[in-house]
Amino acid sequence: FFAGMHSHIIQSAGSGDNANARSICILYGSQTGNSESVAHDAAQLAKAHGLNPGILSMDEIEADTFIGLEYLLIITSTYGEGEMPDNAQMLWETISSDDSIDLTNMNYSVLALGDTSYDMFCQAGKDWDQRLEKLGAKRLYDRIDCDVDFDEAAENWIGNVIPLMADGAATITVDSNSIPATAKYGRKNPFPGKLVANRLLTSPDSSKEIRHYEISIADSGLSYEAGDALNVVPVNCPELVADIIKAIGCSGDEEEPVSGVLMPLSEALREHFEIKLPSKELLNEIAKRSGDQELNNLLATDDKDQLTKYLWGRDTLDLLLQFPAMQFSAAEFLALLKPLQHRAYSISSSGKANPETVHLTISSVRYNSFNREHKGVCSTYLADIADDNSAVRCFFSPNKVFRVPEDNDLPMIMVGPGTGVAPFRAFLQEREFRKAKGLNWLFFGDRNADKDFIYRDEIEAMQLHGVLNRLDLAFSRDQEEKIYVQDRMREKGAELFALLEQGGYFFVCGDAYRMAKDVDKALHDVIAIHGDLSEEQAAEYVNQMKKDKRYVRDVY
Ligand code: 2AM
Repeated sequence: FFAGMHSHIIQSAGSGDNANARSICILYGSQTGNSESVAHDAAQLAKAHGLNPGILSMDEIEADTFIGLEYLLIITSTYGEGEMPDNAQMLWETISSDDSIDLTNMNYSVLALGDTSYDMFCQAGKDWDQRLEKLGAKRLYDRIDCDVDFDEAAENWIGNVIPLMADGAATITVDSNSIPATAKYGRKNPFPGKLVANRLLTSPDSSKEIRHYEISIADSGLSYEAGDALNVVPVNCPELVADIIKAIGCSGDEEEPVSGVLMPLSEALREHFEIKLPSKELLNEIAKRSGDQELNNLLATDDKDQLTKYLWGRDTLDLLLQFPAMQFSAAEFLALLKPLQHRAYSISSSGKANPETVHLTISSVRYNSFNREHKGVCSTYLADIADDNSAVRCFFSPNKVFRVPEDNDLPMIMVGPGTGVAPFRAFLQEREFRKAKGLNWLFFGDRNADKDFIYRDEIEAMQLHGVLNRLDLAFSRDQEEKIYVQDRMREKGAELFALLEQGGYFFVCGDAYRMAKDVDKALHDVIAIHGDLSEEQAAEYVNQMKKDKRYVRDVY
């Protein structure tokens, strides 16, 4: 029944598929690597039960195919304020807007990934669960809502739901040799890649610090495609760890169990817990112990904006220092923290052109507030380690939609200001490697040309070699009035529309909240003006592009 899905995007969980086995579809939302990793674990167990699992990202399945599914597992995280992840939005729009859809043949269960620090915890998972039930689908097993330490709950869910999915299926004996071993490296076992390059891309007097990294994957057996993400497991800043230990009145040598292993508090804080932003639990405890009226009021009110404002630029250490008598035992303190999470970055190299290394392009987060220097966890972890073969623990998250088109002749339009240029450097390398003839057009920008024009030499060389055919730059602070990439799009609207009409692809990468929204608006306007279409018709045109996977975004 997988007919209707493009065969090349079905990611089978391994060899040994049996044509008679019951097929189950495992759909995951988001690109953070967590839901995908759980999907793979579920597929492993499904295989062991004689099922035939297919794993797909939510933007890889057509609505019609979805509606015909008989056995479905949904594993999804939630984005922003209770919204669907970007890659789930199209499918959700269709399924949530049509009450005539009949899912009475569907058996399903939902695993929701989330973070209790946010309001609308696990909302995307809840929405799917309710919607499928409303359309007549049969819930085989109750939804589980997981917090950031989801491993145990997810294993539990998988262990319960897979036998239910297999129940009543033709029993097929599975040769245990055909059950693929779990991938050697992944979320649970990150690859220790050597950092072989770490250099500043912006000029030293820029207001920004954007760096170029290269991590070796030689001899790892790992490979990647242009458009994929690399997840990096950070290590917390040792000075910050030391300051926190001092602030809570510990020595750091206290031995505490972390996932069953005894280790000193200092090591636990450095490698296993989020110590930068306070968890809700820690905030509540600090409020309780300090009796501070302001903080207690903020936590009690429903006005979230006030708390957000209060926490702006204020981290765990700031809070601890603010109430100097705040003493915790090591065990008490650890119990209030969340596990340290990996961070996903869009890869800036093509795996074909660079099979031995992965390149990243990352802006270091550094700012002063509350009379201290503050640093982003993962960006400065990378920035501050030397490129002397230090190991960086990492694993890949494929993004099967954000890809250079298979057809080498189709035009590619890429909008990526700032670090948003990362995947487009990869795309251009990929097109050069393939000797693709299709037109490549890049919209790039940042604050100042003389300070922030990252990869300028490479970009100009690619122009010279005919790889990059069109380049439009928007340096926002080089003149009185702000000029942004979307302004350049509007200026070149006629040519842009003509390329879309030729089947061109439109890619956007970078800031989700402002840039991607404004670029989306500009795209609609360009299509309406130059296609002589009404607002509604232009929206329909854009929607069709999304459906055809010709308008794809990697925004954060
Ligand atoms: P600004 O900071 O000068 O306003 C990369 O961060 C670039 O994106 C900067 O030049 C920044 O300009 C610009 N930028 C800020 N807001 C934007 C928006 N709404 N749309 C597009 N670009 C924006």
